[in-house]
Amino acid sequence: MGEEAIANVLVFSIPIQGHINPLLQFSKRLISKNVSVTFLTTSSTHNNIIRRSTAGGATALPLSFVPLDDGFEEGHPSTDTSPEYFAKLEENVSRSLSQLISSMEPKPNAVVYDSCSPWILDVCRKYPGVAAASFFTQCSIVNAIYIHFLRGEFKEFQDDVVLPAMPPLKGSDLPVFLYDNNLCRPLFELISSQFVNVDDIDFFLVNSFDELEVEVLEWMKNQWPVKNIGPMIPSTYLDKRLAGDKDYGISLFNAQVNECLDWLDSKPPGSVIYVSFGSLAVLKDDQMIELAAGLKQTGHNFLWVVRETETKKLPSNYIEEIGDRGLIVNWSPQLQVLAHKSIGCFMTHCGWNSTLEALSLGVALIGMPAYSDQPTNAKFIEDVWKVGVRVKADKDGFVTKEEIVRCVGEVMEETSKKGKEIRKNALRLMEFAKEALAEGGNSDKNIDEFVAKIAR
Ligand code: UDX
Repeated sequence: MGEEAIANVLVFSIPIQGHINPLLQFSKRLISKNVSVTFLTTSSTHNNIIRRSTAGGATALPLSFVPLDDGFEEGHPSTDTSPEYFAKLEENVSRSLSQLISSMEPKPNAVVYDSCSPWILDVCRKYPGVAAASFFTQCSIVNAIYIHFLRGEFKEFQDDVVLPAMPPLKGSDLPVFLYDNNLCRPLFELISSQFVNVDDIDFFLVNSFDELEVEVLEWMKNQWPVKNIGPMIPSTYLDKRLAGDKDYGISLFNAQVNECLDWLDSKPPGSVIYVSFGSLAVLKDDQMIELAAGLKQTGHNFLWVVRETETKKLPSNYIEEIGDRGLIVNWSPQLQVLAHKSIGCFMTHCGWNSTLEALSLGVALIGMPAYSDQPTNAKFIEDVWKVGVRVKADKDGFVTKEEIVRCVGEVMEETSKKGKEIRKNALRLMEFAKEALAEGGNSDKNIDEFVAKIAR
């Protein structure tokens, strides 16, 4: 960094890939603005994260990692969604963060924390001068929907929902927990908890960019000082101002980098469907078999990420049957894949990071949402941003191979009018994404303002 840091910030992320990535990226942006950052991990995941950060070529990450005792044995799954896990995490992490801040002199200027750990606000409040910045890894549209729901403005299982600053929404466009919140009560409660104390936080940071959600952002800003600071993806794919910032820096999975890139190099431009459902989504066995058949039937090349825990669901002999037309890997270097000229479209679960990555790289989308905020992201991808299509599922949520073939055709075929429109819109939004983090862009200015306010 060279000069003396103008502020010192602690950053905390829940230890799952979709949250670590944007919070790590935000840390790098702060560092580029002369802020020193300590990235807080949980003790049960710390060693894995450190190992993973080095394995991912992140030795050069200019920040230190400090574990907070979460009260679990090393290796305890961070995907544990039991109420006991969340309660113990809150209790232990609150206590050890408090001890850490007590021991620091000078005190940190701010704690930037994953909005799924809203209790960190209470820790900050014990130390006057330590600002509390809640960082939302989902967009304002989703945040606003939860807020309306929690205010009792619509009910669970409601099929037609009309909310301010939004198009009319069907039940199947809502975050999954609101349409069927019996799915996983503790997760619903975790996600709802993000809003319990938003009236009291000092900074309300959102991983999004202004042009995506103009009306909703306006509605949010009338009540809270919401600031978009995204898209939080590595600088190489946006403004290129952070030297060498090519990947997030911590990968909890082993990407098959050369295998993916060599295979993509061998395919014609725009010819490949990239298929990935992120780090958590789990497909039902029959859906996996149908998707496999659908991809084969499209006649296009495809690169499909099937996580190790999902591979047993693939039809037997499938890899032999598809031959060189398809490549199946357990984890890909997603950004490098999306940026590759051979990619024609991205079939995605519409996780918010995957969505932002595709928007930033101008890639057309096929949305096949699975969980959480993904149906809402898919709705906006198809009907508002018009950068993709969404598969139509039957009443049990099943998507047929014919539907997969139809959607791929709409997006990929040269003759498809809709496909052309989608590609044009994707390129237009890509420009906005890049501008947001370029010098003087809206998100860049918001980060500058955050730094100026916390610096003493
Ligand atoms: C979750 C939620 O689904 C998402 O909607 C929420 O807003 C944030 O966290 P996840 O389901 O894993 O995360 O999806 P996503 O948000 O898309 O994040 C996955 C990340 O893993 C992306 O940054 C993506 O680039 C990366 N990835 C995925 C890879 O690097 N390689 C892969 O093969 C697949």
